[in-house]
Amino acid sequence: MEKQNIDWGSLGFGYIKTDKRYVSNFKDGKWDDGVLTEDATVCINECAGVLQYAQTCFEGLKAYTTEDGHIVVFRPDLNADRMIDSAKRLEMPVFPKDRFIDAVEKVVLANESFVPPYGSGATLYLRPYMFGTNPVIGVKPADEYQFRILATPVGPYFKGGVKPLTLKVSDFDRAAPHGTGHIKGGLNYAMSLHAIVTAHNEGYDENMYLDAATRTKIEETGGANFIFVTKDGKVVTPKSNSILPSITRRSLMYVAKEYLGLDAQEREIELAELSDMAECGLCGTAAVISPVGKVVDHGKEICFPSGMTEMGPTIKKLYDTLTGIQMGRIPAPEGWIKVIK
Ligand code: PLP
Ligand code: COI
Repeated sequence: MEKQNIDWGSLGFGYIKTDKRYVSNFKDGKWDDGVLTEDATVCINECAGVLQYAQTCFEGLKAYTTEDGHIVVFRPDLNADRMIDSAKRLEMPVFPKDRFIDAVEKVVLANESFVPPYGSGATLYLRPYMFGTNPVIGVKPADEYQFRILATPVGPYFKGGVKPLTLKVSDFDRAAPHGTGHIKGGLNYAMSLHAIVTAHNEGYDENMYLDAATRTKIEETGGANFIFVTKDGKVVTPKSNSILPSITRRSLMYVAKEYLGLDAQEREIELAELSDMAECGLCGTAAVISPVGKVVDHGKEICFPSGMTEMGPTIKKLYDTLTGIQMGRIPAPEGWIKVIK
């Protein structure tokens, strides 16, 4: 298969229109069979539930070309499960897990020429999403929905590639204690836009959000979970009911324990503990693991010993092992890799 004429190495994290996307509609209580289409335009009523009350949720996963030339996706079953949780919390119909995985496969195959080659540093990002399509004016769930998956080739989420990031402890909250922080609803991202624009305008790369109830514990950023390495070599990650259960973070905790023999714990982490940390990274599908060099808490700088030029040694080992598994250089745990071709 001839690849697209794209300079894969210089791709950022943006949208490029690819050949095909998957669409299925929910009406009269059931999903239709679903199709691949070349039409990238969504046409919905002016009063659609998504437009009025933001009834939408989404997922993110990637397709990779492995060292031996296969095309694979990473743990799509967990994205399907999480989208089911999001849909339930937002009173949307569930898109069945087997159909989700089948649709992912179809979209990747239909856009094979856009799957970046092995070693290019780029991947094919897949964005499954669902939204209420019929008119809704009183506050209630829609009756009709559309599920879609689009694909776009992407490079690194953060511009500097692996250059350590500077974060700001945000004055805004991302999620309430009994709210929607644990699901991937568009609403969580809409309300983070002002906070991220503010942080960028002040020269920061991202926000560190704290727990809304006490503002003493570390939660996550707008698009990734945290992973820390303590000065005595333990891998720790925040435990909270109001953060997104990152698939990358869950995978890294397994890799830390089972592949690297490290002590790895999910527990509450106080903001006050930051100065005890040796390394910090942001983890997610888009972020992969992006190193953090510095966190600024209202003028007080907390600089991690790993510094501002490179990834810390343990985060680097986690990064190399996870990406090695995704690219087929390191054997994967059972069920983590779905071979598409
Ligand atoms: N946290 C938030 C708020 C996110 O948007 C994402 C991205 O999906 C993550 C964490 C990372 O999750 P995952 O590793 O499943 O991509
Ligand atoms: C992902 O990592 O897939 C996300 O959805 C995060 C988003 C900020 C791009």
